[in-house]
Amino acid sequence: MTIAELEEAKAKSLGEIAAAADAAALEALRVRYVGRNGSIPALIKAMKDVPKEDRPAFGKAVQQWRAEVEAALAGKTVQGGGKRVDCDITLPGRWRACGVEHPLSRVVEESAAIFGRLGFTVADGPEFENVFNNFTALNTPAHHPTMDRSDTFWFGDDCLLRTQTSPVQIRTMMANKPPVRVICPGRTYRRDTTDATHSANFHQIEGLYVDTKPVSLADLKSVLAYFAKEMMGDGVTVRFRPHFFPFTEPSVEVDFSCHVCKGRGCGVCKQSGWIEVAGAGMVDPRVFRHVGYDPDVVSGYAFGFGVERVAMIKYGIPDIRWFYENDIRFLEQLG
Ligand code: DAH
Repeated sequence: MTIAELEEAKAKSLGEIAAAADAAALEALRVRYVGRNGSIPALIKAMKDVPKEDRPAFGKAVQQWRAEVEAALAGKTVQGGGKRVDCDITLPGRWRACGVEHPLSRVVEESAAIFGRLGFTVADGPEFENVFNNFTALNTPAHHPTMDRSDTFWFGDDCLLRTQTSPVQIRTMMANKPPVRVICPGRTYRRDTTDATHSANFHQIEGLYVDTKPVSLADLKSVLAYFAKEMMGDGVTVRFRPHFFPFTEPSVEVDFSCHVCKGRGCGVCKQSGWIEVAGAGMVDPRVFRHVGYDPDVVSGYAFGFGVERVAMIKYGIPDIRWFYENDIRFLEQLG
């Protein structure tokens, strides 16, 4: 090969590299020209056949060719698909959405952690329930309004969407000997029309403590007072108001002192200084009999509160529907 032929071959190789459409074509050219058995190494090996006086000039030209091919290969960027990638470093970075925990999940997780510190474990139950677990064993008679077709989603005579998490109390006691100490977070259903504070499907957390040692209303109050302080902040206290639930005797409604105004009265607590949060009471002896516990031997308390309700007051959310719309702006603000 003469130097003129070499220059011609070099121009051809550089043209091919410039025109390579994709990474595979580029690699083939690398192999063809500078690979172990490529044409440039072959020329170097054949150097001994070049007349002695031409060798320095020829050798220089070959090295130059190799350098230019290598530079061209390194400088050329192709994509798998074959398009050139233009990198404009003045463009803004690519934004990638980052997930956040839903506020309802946060309240559930936090509640499980708080009650966990007091020895409660988490129990679970199905959302489809039967009449015994959702009503009968909870001492709720057949004429009770919640059994009405207009209040509960029924699927036949003995299948319904649970109206509360309380049936998990029944399942837990039927499956375990006392003592039991559980909370049961879960989804519940009522035939409510949805407005700012009601939803046909919402979440509750049930609590149950039963022991062969005497359990009192004072134990219940201390546990809920601890929960109130941990969940809503220091200085939040609880008060009990007499109430009625079929499955507890006595029954109470539980208020937290308003964490916003510290009990002085504000818009959040409707000037009362208190916010209603839960229902609770001492487990009714009839409930114990339904699950095969002896009410002369065991005693216990139970409570139930709405997850949405706690999240609404904790985070100052005025409309329950915001929890279900999955508006990223809302979720991010709270995350
Ligand atoms: N299940 C009740 C409700 O949905 C809440 C409740 C009240 C649960 C008292 C309890 C309890 O365990 O003891 O309104």
